[in-house]
Amino acid sequence: MTDLSTPVPAPVTIPDSGLRIGGRTVPAQSGAHFSSINPATEEVVAEVAAGGAADIDAAVDAARDTFESGVWSRMPGAERGRILTRVADLLEQHAPELSALETAEMGKLYADTVAGDIPAAAASFRHYAGWADKIAGEAMILPDVGPQHRFGFTLRQPLGVVGAITPWNNPTVVAAWKIAPALAAGCSVVVKPAEDASLATLRLADLLAEAGVPDGAFNVVPGLGPEAGAALAAHTGIDKITFTGSPAVGKTITSLAGEKFRKVTLELGGKAPQLIFPDADLDASLPWIAMGNFYHQGQVCAAGTRVIVHESIADQVVEGLVEFARNAVVGDPFDPASTQGTIVNRKQLDRILGYIEKGRSEGAQLVTGGSRIGDRGFFVEPTVFRGTNDLTIAQDEIFGPVATVITFKTTDEAVRLANTTKYGLNAFIFSQNLSTVHSVIPQLRVGTVWVNGWGVPDPALPWGGRDASGIGRELGRSGLEAFTEEKTVHLGY
Ligand code: NAI
Ligand code: MG
Repeated sequence: MTDLSTPVPAPVTIPDSGLRIGGRTVPAQSGAHFSSINPATEEVVAEVAAGGAADIDAAVDAARDTFESGVWSRMPGAERGRILTRVADLLEQHAPELSALETAEMGKLYADTVAGDIPAAAASFRHYAGWADKIAGEAMILPDVGPQHRFGFTLRQPLGVVGAITPWNNPTVVAAWKIAPALAAGCSVVVKPAEDASLATLRLADLLAEAGVPDGAFNVVPGLGPEAGAALAAHTGIDKITFTGSPAVGKTITSLAGEKFRKVTLELGGKAPQLIFPDADLDASLPWIAMGNFYHQGQVCAAGTRVIVHESIADQVVEGLVEFARNAVVGDPFDPASTQGTIVNRKQLDRILGYIEKGRSEGAQLVTGGSRIGDRGFFVEPTVFRGTNDLTIAQDEIFGPVATVITFKTTDEAVRLANTTKYGLNAFIFSQNLSTVHSVIPQLRVGTVWVNGWGVPDPALPWGGRDASGIGRELGRSGLEAFTEEKTVHLGY
């Protein structure tokens, strides 16, 4: 395995930025391309082929041909698993290279991509490699009908061709949460990566091919969301679309896919509450609480930017967060000394600064931060507000390092505040009291609860939300079964 402890970042090696369709690397049929910008320097990283509807057609056709041929969909599961295990090995070997691409394009700390994201993507492939020969239905003896005995069973068959539209914030790992279970199930996949971060996914296609994934089982068409993305979501040749991104685009995708009754899985982010009870171990909890707000500059669907704290310890929590914010080293995401990198692009930077302004104008108390840093690169100060749950900054997903600290008096009030949101992805509880923890967990309208900590989802357990946070689950057994069609058989004898 590659030594991931090395502090020296790998050089940025730009892969061929053409589309990956049916095992070939090709330019967009229109010849169009778009610029990928390094958000730390505002310089062009690469010109990337901008696929359009015709390219999506070609990719879906390639995926369909491969699916129908059975070369992947009917390959023995153990063989598919062996290939997916090789993918995991290759991801680990190429972690520095993939991390350098992610950091160059979207500004996440290299230290976090190399030690976090890429190993987590590998872990997804390794997890689903183990599932590939264990995809099974149920069997049971059914009651007789008159003289006829009956036996029933279910089959789980691969769904077919899957379209995946991925975000820029964790491009390889979120892609892996979709690709690994889809391929394990025997599906073929077409990925449309985010404009801000296509390169690592293009490189991933090369690694999948090297591992032995057959031509056409995995295709990548970079391009603009409203063009390539919309063409994929609307395509009649896909059986499912799986999307991670904003609720607005999630709605568009759902209505496009709904026209043809295609299955949809959506992960649309959140506005997670961090509930901090008076009996929390604050020394142990504060690093997690800070991480929930500032990790990856807050550009995390699971970020916990509503810090809902008991009034008796609110000052301590605010002081702790302020200390983390002021000690942050915001700078070059490749520099091992940096603890915070850049915002992904100018639009997101402006959006974050707009929310900070909104917080001020609605009367929240700005405790620290609040400004852009420098005028080259999209750096912003980690920011802490004190306020109330009804403020825009407490209700909208900012996707920036902006915490809002809100106080409560009773556990019931804490739960009510936690649930007063349009989102429902995840929540956090910090408490040493088992009764508090157990009584609060079932009352939270979310898909995942973290108790006394925070981190990336584990590939073995489901991940997903409700309400504006989305539909369906990724990861775990549910995340695999989402790429299968269940068939029921009634057998009379
Ligand atoms: P977005 O939702 O526009 O982009 C996500 C993906 O959707 C990209 O691949 C994009 O090309 C594609 N897309 C855009 N328009 C499309 C369309 N009409 N049809 C099909 N695909 C389309 O997200 P954006 O603008 O990059 O970020 C805006 C906000 O979205 C963020 O501030 C954050 O709140 C949220 N977001 C949530 C993420 C999550 O992890 N759940 C990830 C990224 C963004
Ligand atoms: Mg960029």
